[in-house]
Amino acid sequence: MSDHFYEPSQGHRLAHNPFKAIVAPRPIGWISSCNEKGELNLAPYSFFNGLTDEPPMVMFSTNTLRKDSINNIELTGEFVVNFVGKHQAQQMNETAASVPNGVSEFTLAGLEPAPSRLVKPPRVADAIASMECKLCQILPLKDHKGQAVQAWVTIGEVVGIHINERFIKDGLFDITAARSLARCGYRGDYIEVTEVFEMFRPS
Ligand SMILES: Cc1cc2nc3c(=O)[nH]c(=O)nc-3n(C[C@H](O)[C@H](O)[C@H](O)COP(=O)(O)O)c2cc1C
Repeated sequence: MSDHFYEPSQGHRLAHNPFKAIVAPRPIGWISSCNEKGELNLAPYSFFNGLTDEPPMVMFSTNTLRKDSINNIELTGEFVVNFVGKHQAQQMNETAASVPNGVSEFTLAGLEPAPSRLVKPPRVADAIASMECKLCQILPLKDHKGQAVQAWVTIGEVVGIHINERFIKDGLFDITAARSLARCGYRGDYIEVTEVFEMFRPS
């Protein structure tokens, strides 16, 4: 069996860097935060995931530079992770605009903030779900030689969870009704969840 092998440090020899197309689909953490003045910020992060569920913890990674989200969270210790359904795809994308700190992406994308219960940053109204988080740690990443790289992982503990009632069916979160959106493939590629199948672990 032949395969295409490459060492990332030496180049991929393909039309585009395939890393993010292989590590896919990635859920999108749509992060809301506030700066010290209480001005709102909202941005999508697809290097995002849950880390554990007892207690529930999430993480997202900022690369290239320390962006507004991480700076705000470092200052205030709080953030909200909103989850994106297909119905908010366009608006989510608009919130990735690079704008100065203090300019609210809620306003830019025409999104309504909804109050959170336990943290100051608001949620995205009509998001499929939102998780209120308290900051645990910000980890500057290092490569395998111990050299600092331009990436930081923010880890938060989830202290409150909102689920949009529209997407609860028979006591379950209905991911296909929510049409959860994930980042997939190359620039501009996304996938929405339209079906699931069941498989159970061996006992
Ligand atoms: C779907 C999507 C996923 C993204 N994921 C990341 C990511 O994981 N890490 C990152 O640093 N930037 C990511 N970005 C880019 C940021 O959203 C963008 O740089 C944004 O302006 C950061 O906003 P902030 O400075 O308000 O935090 C993503 C953009 C989109 C549209």
